[in-house]
Amino acid sequence: MVKDKLIFNGNEKQVFSTDDPCQVIFRYKDVTTAFHGVKRARFAGKGALTSQISAILLGYLNDNGVETHFIRTLGDEREQLCRMIEIIPLEVVFHNRISGSLASKLGVEDGFKPSNTILDLCYNNDELGDPLINRDQAVALRLATYQELDGMYDIVRRSGQLLTDLLDRAGIELVDAKFEFGRAADTGAIIISDEISPDTCRMWDKETGERLDKDRFRLDLGDLVPSYGIVLEKLKTALDLE
Ligand code: C5P
Repeated sequence: MVKDKLIFNGNEKQVFSTDDPCQVIFRYKDVTTAFHGVKRARFAGKGALTSQISAILLGYLNDNGVETHFIRTLGDEREQLCRMIEIIPLEVVFHNRISGSLASKLGVEDGFKPSNTILDLCYNNDELGDPLINRDQAVALRLATYQELDGMYDIVRRSGQLLTDLLDRAGIELVDAKFEFGRAADTGAIIISDEISPDTCRMWDKETGERLDKDRFRLDLGDLVPSYGIVLEKLKTALDLE
């Protein structure tokens, strides 16, 4: 496998083509952004941590029957080999607790724990601020079919539960998680894409309630990289890695 051209240069990641048209290389950057790119900073070592955490979590989903774009890690710890996809510009956010923008929107205390889990469908569109969208609107914009949306919801419910249980074993509470999707270039199947890490999920220490995720940056709490390091170490211990 040969790394070829830069085909996407995002805020927090780069994507390179390879000599296989169905495979790409994801490179995680040290840059962090929040509030739709309004707040931005660089944290040395962040990209290596989010890449390693994402590789563990995406790999765990693959091993447990949920297809993702992740294939394997590469020599450089900021890079991973992934399946090429056609992007579906929708996000589904899974909430075990109500935190962040959802808490503000609903007027409840940040961290409120409902008796159900909540799934939100959002249109992945920076210019519009990734607004909430409903199924009919998503179909009207031809972003996905009703059948594909049903499949995505099913994937998110299964993945949310698998990750909640895994993180619980690691001493971490999964508060919420954002999932992105694509149609795999090799099979056409809808699979999870992008990353799953403390940059895209809220993760709280089960014992202390301490935030171990991007809220450390959003809320100016400091210690972002050490917190992500704790997540990685706890996951490695739970899964008996290294
Ligand atoms: O910002 P908000 O509170 O709506 O975020 C809900 C969850 O989705 C959080 O875990 C956040 O990290 C994630 N998210 C994301 N990318 C976005 C917006 C939210 O990963 N563009």
